[in-house]
Amino acid sequence: MSLFSEFELGPTRLKNRIVMAPMTRSRAIGNMPNALMAEYYAQRASAGLILTEAIAVSPNGTGYPRIPGLWSNQQVEGWRLTTDAVHDAGGKIFAQIFHTGRIGHALNLPAGGEVLGPSAVTAAGEMYTDQEGMQPHPTPRAMTLDEVANAREEFAHAAKNAIAAGFDGVELHAANGYLLTQFLTPNTNQRDDAYGGSIEGRNRLTLETADAITAEIGADRLGVRLSPHGVFNDLVDYPETAEQYAQLAAELGKRNLAYTHLIETFGGSTVPPSTLDGVRSAFGGTVILNGAYDRNKADAAIAGERADLIAFGVPFIANPDLPRRLEQGAALAEARQEHFYAPGAEGYTDYPALG
Ligand SMILES: Cc1cc2nc3c(=O)[nH]c(=O)nc-3n(C[C@H](O)[C@H](O)[C@H](O)COP(=O)(O)O)c2cc1C
Repeated sequence: MSLFSEFELGPTRLKNRIVMAPMTRSRAIGNMPNALMAEYYAQRASAGLILTEAIAVSPNGTGYPRIPGLWSNQQVEGWRLTTDAVHDAGGKIFAQIFHTGRIGHALNLPAGGEVLGPSAVTAAGEMYTDQEGMQPHPTPRAMTLDEVANAREEFAHAAKNAIAAGFDGVELHAANGYLLTQFLTPNTNQRDDAYGGSIEGRNRLTLETADAITAEIGADRLGVRLSPHGVFNDLVDYPETAEQYAQLAAELGKRNLAYTHLIETFGGSTVPPSTLDGVRSAFGGTVILNGAYDRNKADAAIAGERADLIAFGVPFIANPDLPRRLEQGAALAEARQEHFYAPGAEGYTDYPALG
């Protein structure tokens, strides 16, 4: 088995085991997916599977400037440009959906949006806004039980919209410190109701959300991204992490989802192999691994059956034809960081493929 062999991901046939990791690129002016984004994704359609940048499920979940949404009919139509372009180029694409929770700012939210979280715990550090540059993180308002149920339904609605927009499936973003991770993690979840207080309580919203999405689109089109031990966005690691994620993975495994996608290293933390092993065996299904992979490391993970698929993030930014370069052992171009989140085509669609 190699990185370049085909893979059946539920009903979706992948031409290789190389996944483009989800990456926020902040080109969606007015939270609307557009033609420039369609061009960017189509350029990368030689990946076995593209995962989109994180897409907000609702105005409350749109904490960053210029990130796309998937709650309105107009946004569904906008995403059609991308799904058609990727499919025409022979690719497959899942929509990564998220809610930013406490990681947001009033200046970034569309009309009617509010910064909410599991508890009124403010993230350390600052948040970028287009209008006023860096601003302190606001204190989120703790969600009522009705608001928790509402967020779950926002995810289900966005997942349904994703399929209507032509996506092959959905990745539920339960990683990197956004709303679902804020519920999973004790420092951000200080609730004493059914959604906090214990491993079972903290896992509840992610599992209920997976179930609500499954009811709309089916389990075999849904994957879940997790970042155990992650500290990005002011999460604090805790002694129960391995146990909590093994339980979460076992519950997700019972649901026969398309995959679980584990971030091994990103934003200042690395997952110990023992936690990965625990999650992998508890889940029992398809596993995507991600974080600082190159060709050799990816081959070894697949040959050693530690992963079925490998996601590459930053390497895809400057190498739209990454699979071909990996196969040929060609040199990789370096991405220009100053364009990661800047609007416009520069540093986005202007990286050439090999001649
Ligand atoms: C510019 C940029 C934007 C990112 N945006 C997202 C995102 O929207 N959703 C997500 O789950 N991870 C996001 N990540 C994390 C990547 O998916 C990936 O986990 C990380 O880059 C490590 O993989 P790599 O070493 O192959 O780049 C982002 C990373 C970068 C560099």
